[in-house]
Order: sequence, then structure tokens, then C-alpha cells
Amino acid sequence: MKLSKLIFVAAASVGGLFSLSSCKSGGGNSIKVGEFASLTGKEATFGTSSHEGTLLAIEQVNAAGGVLGKKLELLTEDDQTKAGEPANAVNKLISKDGVIAILGEVASSRSLEAAPICQLNKVPMISPASTNPTVTREGDYVFRVCFNDNFQGGALANFASGTLKAKKVAILTDVKSDYSKGLAKSFKEKYATSGGVVGTELDFNGGDKDFKGQLTAIKSDAPDAIFLPGYYNDVALICIQAKQLGMSIPIFGGDGWESESLLEIGKDAMEGHYFSTHCSIEQPTPEMTSFVNSYKKRFSGKSPDAMAVLGYDSAMVLVDAIKRANSTESGALREAIATTKDFAGASGKISLNADRDAVKALVFIQIKGGKFTYSATVNP
Ligand code: PHE
Repeated sequence: MKLSKLIFVAAASVGGLFSLSSCKSGGGNSIKVGEFASLTGKEATFGTSSHEGTLLAIEQVNAAGGVLGKKLELLTEDDQTKAGEPANAVNKLISKDGVIAILGEVASSRSLEAAPICQLNKVPMISPASTNPTVTREGDYVFRVCFNDNFQGGALANFASGTLKAKKVAILTDVKSDYSKGLAKSFKEKYATSGGVVGTELDFNGGDKDFKGQLTAIKSDAPDAIFLPGYYNDVALICIQAKQLGMSIPIFGGDGWESESLLEIGKDAMEGHYFSTHCSIEQPTPEMTSFVNSYKKRFSGKSPDAMAVLGYDSAMVLVDAIKRANSTESGALREAIATTKDFAGASGKISLNADRDAVKALVFIQIKGGKFTYSATVNP
């Protein structure tokens, strides 16, 4: 139902594209690049961070003279963290603005909404940080510059049995999020094959405020740890309530935990818990160091998070592809993005595989002394 409606909207915009084709493909003085992000609403830190990284990349490229003799023009749409808005955003960017490519989104559910529209219109889409495996399965115009959750779920399962030595793990899944459901599934499959037992499995809806019912049930099942594949705001509340119930077992999750707000909301209830993510800003590579310095300079001393790094990389991978294609024509650009190999990104080396996913290492972070502390790297 939802999909057929989207395709209908997208098909309507295809008609618009024909008449707009002259202003598409960078025919004017600038090359138009579209971006959609959650700049406001429940996951505002995700969109704000990825947008800042993306913007910094575009500004740097323009300061160095632009690409193919033209300046890049970044057109950003705020999807307000709301279902339905990503479709509106990309339809507008494609049919009204005539962008040559689209950067976004961080959250998988919102990328999944936009991807079929980009695919249908043959406008390359590069997600900075959506990890749900199905995102890039939407078609050959959809890419990501991060790993997917088959890899992340497997790394988390090894972490549970290896590092935590957990024999039984409870899982709390956000059923409103494709990311959460997908990561729970890949974790479970891998954890079971390594002999782990999945104990209590319960759901919540992102945005809920009271998790005591689920946590009480988990407590009475006495697992060794809780796997919580959620986003930072829900995660922080869950950790606070677990602490209030006197639970001291480790709680761990994936990249959705990463936000300074996790610590601001959760405070000492976050202490000792773990999550996996895309990179650490302490990675001693020249690309990361230079990115962190430029970002701090541009955004009043603020430290970047993983989404900022990946937003930056998504734009730089696009620029690299435009240069290699020596064109912004959709087919040539798609081809060039697909053949990205060993691109020196701020997050690490980026090579895209046949599924249009980046093959990259993952890092584990532990919250120690109220800070995100690097704990380990897992290579693909
Ligand atoms: N991977 C998450 C998703 O697919 C988004 C995310 C990426 C969140 C990076 C935080 C950091 O929904």
C-alpha cells in the first residue's frame, strides 16, 4: 500500500523530469546536489551532524575551485524525522530542482522511503549512514558509504559472546524502525550460531517513555546482557530505567546510539555500556585529523560524530565520481560511483562492493567516565 503510493508519486515526477531535463545534469553555472536530512524532530542530531559534514565537504570543494569548472550548489530539505517527508523531499529535489544526485539519509527507514524514487528517476542516491541491508537492494542507483547491518550484527554477536562472555542475551527492539528490526535479526542469527541463547525478546515503539514493563520482564529472566538496537534518545531512557530497577548487567547496541545527547540525557546511567559505530574521531589518519580540525574550525569548536564524518565522505565520494566520470550525466555518474575503490575518506578507506555497500571496519566504543572511549576495531 505504502510502496505503491510512493511509486505513484515518483512516477508523477518522472513526467516532470522530461520537461526539466535541460536544467538537470549541471547544464547551468553550478552543479546541483540534493540532500535530505532530519534537521528537526526526534532525531535532529542525526540530520544536523550529517548535514554539517556534507556542507563542509561542499564548501571545501568550492573553495578549491569546484568540479568540472563549476561550483557545487547544495540544496537541503529537512524531512523533520517524519515518515512521508523523505518522499516529498526527494520528489521536490528531483523534479523541481533538477539535482544530479542525492545525499541522505542517516536513518534506514527514511532512506528506504526515498530510494525507490531515486531509482525510478535514475538519480544516484548515496546514503552516508543507513545500515539496513535492504536500503541498497532498492536498485543500482542506490549506494552507501558505510557497512551494512549483516556485518554490524555479526560483529555485535561476536562481541557478546567473545568480549562480554554473555551466554544469554535479552533483546529489546524498536518495531517502528527498520534499522532496529534488521539489526536485531542479524544479531540473533549470528549469536545463535556461536552458541548464544537469546532470552527475553521484547518490543517498544520509538518515542515511548516508559520501558519498566519490558525491563522488569527481562530482569526476572536474568540474562547476562541486554542487546538494544535503538536510537540514542530511546536508549538513554531505557538505560536510566534499567538503573532505577537495580539492573547492573551490560547493555549494548549499534551505531544508532551515537549522539552527544545520549550522554546528556542518560548521564551516569550510561556508564560502562557499549556500542559499535563507524569510526572514532581519534583515528590517527591524516584524513580524519584534517577533517576534525576543519569541522571544529567551521562549527565553533564542536567535535564531529560519526554521522558528520560520513556526511562528509558521502559528498566527497560523489565529487570523486563526478571527476572520474568527467560528467554529471546520470548513467556515467552511476557507473563512476559504483566503481569507487580505495577512496581515502575521513572515516577510512572506501571501496564499494557489487551490492553498492562500503566494505569497512567498525569500532566499539565504551562509555567510561562519562565519555565515549574507543575500545576495539573489527575488520571486515
Ligand atoms: N545506521 C543507522 C540506521 O540505519 C543510522 C545511524 C548511523 C545512526 C550512524 C547513528 C550513527 O538507521
